[in-house]
Amino acid sequence: MAKRVLSFTLNGKRHDGVVPDNMLLLDYLRERLLMTGTKTGCDGGECGLCTVLVDGTPILSCLTLACSAEGKAVETIESLEHDGRLAAIQEGFHVKLGSQCGYCTPGYIMAAEGLLRTNAAPSVDAIKTALGSNICRCTGYVKIIEAVQYAANKLRDTKAAA
Ligand code: FES
Ligand code: FES
Repeated sequence: MAKRVLSFTLNGKRHDGVVPDNMLLLDYLRERLLMTGTKTGCDGGECGLCTVLVDGTPILSCLTLACSAEGKAVETIESLEHDGRLAAIQEGFHVKLGSQCGYCTPGYIMAAEGLLRTNAAPSVDAIKTALGSNICRCTGYVKIIEAVQYAANKLRDTKAAA
């Protein structure tokens, strides 16, 4: 299999590597870069577990070739906590009990993070649409929606206080 040089920004830091043309971004992140916060589930675009941000937009990394990240900014769940402080969306899932086993949670959080960057006050319908590619087998989905609403409110309050 042909390989190519790959350069992109991962969680704010430049990464240079060599990747087979057919390697998926999900596998590259988990196996090469040990970013195991991004989970693998269906491997077929059905569950949303593998969601990461590319240039700020949520994508399914199991359907994305690693080489397509060339020159882009990739963000995984590992990027959200800073100096021991959870991001608003992580806090939302914690406070609102938006996860149980937690296996689906990184995918939900990255999908929600992408939404909140473009919509500061998402409606319930907007949240459902943004999270429509994600599946949870444990929780009621109500708690997940409440987690996103919590994060949106916290971000707005923080901005207003600044
Ligand atoms: S592992 Fe990517 S959508 Fe399921
Ligand atoms: S919390 Fe277990 S699958 Fe979602």
